[in-house]
Amino acid sequence: MSETFDLIVIGGGPAGYLGAERAQRAGLRTALFEKRALGGVCLNEGCIPSKALLNSAKLYEHALHSAAYGVSCGDVKIDQGTVVARRGRVVRALVNGVKAKMKAAGVRVFMEDAVLRGRAGEDFVVASANRELRAKRLLIATGSSASIPPIPGVQENLGDFVLTNREVLELPEIPKRFAVIGGGVIGLEMAAYYAAVGSKVTVIEMLDHIAGPTDREIGHLLQKELEKKGVTFLLSHKCLSVEPGRVWVEAPDGQKFAVEADKALLSIGRRANCEGLGLESIGVNFTRGGITTDALGRTNVENVYAVGDVNGHHMLAHTAYREAEVAVNAMTGRTDSMRYIANPSVIYTQPEIASVGRTEEEAKEKGIDYEVQKLSMRYSGRFVAENEGADGLCKILINKKKRNIIGVHMIGSYSSEIIWGAAEMIEMQLRVTDARQIIFPHPTVSEILREVLWEFDD
Ligand code: NAI
Repeated sequence: MSETFDLIVIGGGPAGYLGAERAQRAGLRTALFEKRALGGVCLNEGCIPSKALLNSAKLYEHALHSAAYGVSCGDVKIDQGTVVARRGRVVRALVNGVKAKMKAAGVRVFMEDAVLRGRAGEDFVVASANRELRAKRLLIATGSSASIPPIPGVQENLGDFVLTNREVLELPEIPKRFAVIGGGVIGLEMAAYYAAVGSKVTVIEMLDHIAGPTDREIGHLLQKELEKKGVTFLLSHKCLSVEPGRVWVEAPDGQKFAVEADKALLSIGRRANCEGLGLESIGVNFTRGGITTDALGRTNVENVYAVGDVNGHHMLAHTAYREAEVAVNAMTGRTDSMRYIANPSVIYTQPEIASVGRTEEEAKEKGIDYEVQKLSMRYSGRFVAENEGADGLCKILINKKKRNIIGVHMIGSYSSEIIWGAAEMIEMQLRVTDARQIIFPHPTVSEILREVLWEFDD
């Protein structure tokens, strides 16, 4: 006899575990299936472990340059074994935190691989090797996996010479030469880490710029900063094939050559995990980009929702959290809807990049009549006090006629902690004159927003 729930969640990453908790708290009896580890990619092999590594690199860099701040650190070394072990402890503590959260909320968690098995009357049937459960509603939150392209040599060398986001976070030793295929978010964060800890890093990117949809000027500044740390960028270069020790590339002029490397990271994007789930058994529509959903996370099948990376909208953990809340609110009849216009994104390199809203490129493409103002981060006293010899940029875009803020892009320390405030300005459709009335704590790097806002005419 199969047990019946109000909701079954498939996938225990940020979208799944948060959705399950919110649903249970809202009174829906909820079951959650997770086949690997609670916390999903973000917590186990993405956002969190990469930040643990990047923080070790930041400390190492600070220690190396501490003399400029009047601090002497002696013989500064980094020990990759200790860095990786700490990363493991951080992940374990947080996974236990998610486990405890599920228990406290009363969510029934099954650490099993589950598939959809069609319907039994009104209910959906979800089965694992050990059990069959039924529910009136489904929340699909199965996330995404690294895209593995049909580049010769990639598949055969996966996990050994060719690494994905999973293996790159647990390398026991620092590779002397490190190649990165794909200069997007994952590639840049890992290029920054390995360059900081001593690898000779080469980034191979097929576009003529790094950091994908990031504001071009800000992305270019990051490139310059990473170049200063010894990273080589091969832009407009195509990856042709891979063999242990070499990544073969083609330059824009057609010349073919090998980038010698001890390890190569494959970071060319991610694919929504839709295959093998049994979506066909209940008729859920999906494409290569993910499960098709509306602004409430609803699929084409009534009472079936899909949130997080699996719907392919933004593939960011914080977006997934919000999508899960919106979907649960839709299930329980509360008014809510997903808006992506003020969805921040961050690249946690050193220096870090944080963006929200329209970029200049996007504004031009969409024919938005905009005005832009920008200032060096050195207009912030706190930034100067804490960042010897460093610089950064803060740039704000406004709608020329309406005078409301439509985009904010920053590079420099603390950007990631400031950007939510800028997102709020966009979300609330604040005009320049409204936003100027906000009192910022002094001295903080966040004051740079205020400085740039005063660069606009009323
Ligand atoms: P991405 O989409 O950010 O970047 C992939 C890059 O690879 C692009 O610039 C693309 O032009 C390039 N590329 C594709 N095929 C190539 C080829 N054959 N040769 C050379 N270059 C090629 O994907 P990435 O970095 O794998 O990240 C995946 C997802 O994970 C993203 O959606 C991102 O939002 C998320 N993520 C977010 C983080 C954050 O918020 N800080 C951190 C890490 C990942």
